[in-house]
Amino acid sequence: MLRHTTGWMHHLTTLAVTVAVGVGAPAIAAGQSSASLGFDPAEITFHKDIEPILQRSCQNCHREESVAPMALLTYAQARPWARSMKRRTAMGRRAGVMPPWYVEQNIGIQEYKFDPSLSDKEVAMMGAWADAGAPRGNVADAPPPRDFGDGGWTIGEPDLVTTLPELIIGGEQPDWWGEIETTPVGNTTDRYVEALEFREVNDVLDTEDSRETVGGRFVFHHMIWSTQVIGDDGEQDKTRSEDTTTGWPVHEVGRNADTFDPEAGRLLAANSSVVSNSVHLHSNGRDTRSHLEIAWKFHPEGYEPKLKRASRSLGDGLNIDIRPEEADQQLHAYTVLQTHQKLTTFEPHLHAPGQRMCLEAIWGNHIETLTCAGYDHNWVRTYEYADHTAPILPKGTILHITGYMDNTTANRNVPDPRNWQGSGNRSVTNMFIDLGIGVQLSDEQFLEQMEERRQAIGWRLGDHVIGCPLCAYDDLTIADVSDEDEAEDDAEEGTAETAETAAQQQ
Ligand code: HEC
Repeated sequence: MLRHTTGWMHHLTTLAVTVAVGVGAPAIAAGQSSASLGFDPAEITFHKDIEPILQRSCQNCHREESVAPMALLTYAQARPWARSMKRRTAMGRRAGVMPPWYVEQNIGIQEYKFDPSLSDKEVAMMGAWADAGAPRGNVADAPPPRDFGDGGWTIGEPDLVTTLPELIIGGEQPDWWGEIETTPVGNTTDRYVEALEFREVNDVLDTEDSRETVGGRFVFHHMIWSTQVIGDDGEQDKTRSEDTTTGWPVHEVGRNADTFDPEAGRLLAANSSVVSNSVHLHSNGRDTRSHLEIAWKFHPEGYEPKLKRASRSLGDGLNIDIRPEEADQQLHAYTVLQTHQKLTTFEPHLHAPGQRMCLEAIWGNHIETLTCAGYDHNWVRTYEYADHTAPILPKGTILHITGYMDNTTANRNVPDPRNWQGSGNRSVTNMFIDLGIGVQLSDEQFLEQMEERRQAIGWRLGDHVIGCPLCAYDDLTIADVSDEDEAEDDAEEGTAETAETAAQQQ
């Protein structure tokens, strides 16, 4: 959604504004000809082939009211960008690629919600179209223009939009950390949230030279926030705080929408307010007035969540040791799941040298990569597994992340790669975390979820399900227990047994 090249760094002026792109990146992936991809390059036209791609994957940002520097709504607007579009779509899943979505396609789970990325065939068609001189083709082939009446939110038309107070940051001002005025959300009944999305609105977006400072388009670096019910006295009623306070994923520059597991909607208690004492603003070099908008999508009235959320503490802030002038440096961190879990998102969080992160699940003798994604510190992305691909992992699974760091001049996000880098909170120091979330599963829910998964994907004996080491065992049972208290203690044993049974069957 948003982009912020220099915003992350303190050395605004030392950074190149445009992203380096591979020279002569091949339009067609190695070994794949247009024939094998199923199209004739001479036949590709704007209205027939390219316009539908732009509508689906680009126009949300590339239109006058949105975040990208130029609109790609019409032939006249897109034509001058043909070569540039060819380059930017064919870069592979790494910093600079358009759309900004970095999940690698040759490993791990491949289906995610709201995935705007292009298939190999579409990338190849974009290249063939540019190479042929960007022919327009027949207007009659054009799809109807996309309707942005819903405001262009990726979550669809919101049920409610909350506008936060405006802040002003001066062009020469240093970074600012502080509170934002507590702001009523606008809901008068309890609602469970299905999805939410942020947007920064400021007065530099539509200025003529904003393209020159794409890195400086946005000033909100992050906001850590919750919703709480605040009384007339401006204080939270402590007796109700536990039931009415909800924490939400951190907003960050370039971050996309959040959807929660359909069975684990989060509560927005009636008459909630947005509360934050941790907003980080970073000047973009010009006096800027800016505010955030939050779009909410609710579950229907009466919805009750079945599953409990879980976050994972997966990262390492102590042992970050990034040497100067070296690419492909690795960092590792582990955590052990204390309950069965379904992982609903993967969210690599690195800083400037970050280039890539992989998430691996280790259970018994299953060692499996779930997701590898490139990283660009201008676009902090969260990846939401599709409902039928979200990993379902037994208690005791070890999650392992590997961060890949590029501290060389090839990484344009690094201000000066001659410097060693360690860990810390500022943008010029480093973090190494998977901020992904998930839901906890009881033994029963764990078995249910696996059964649902088998149904959803038409599982057949012998099929392997990525991210679900026990899905292949459709005869697992939980030890019978009568007393409720015992049930809790025994739940653990039940799991061990389940695991053991599975191991024996291998
Ligand atoms: C999530 C928002 C978003 C989406 C989706 C998106 N873009 Fe972009 N695009 C941007 C922003 C912001 C920039 C400017 C920053 C940059 O260069 O990375 C940009 C830059 C570009 C540029 C370089 C412009 C220049 O100044 O040289 C091209 C070309 C481009 N986009 C093409 C595309 C195409 C083609 C698609 C779809 C296949 C697409 N973009 C999808 C936001 C987006």
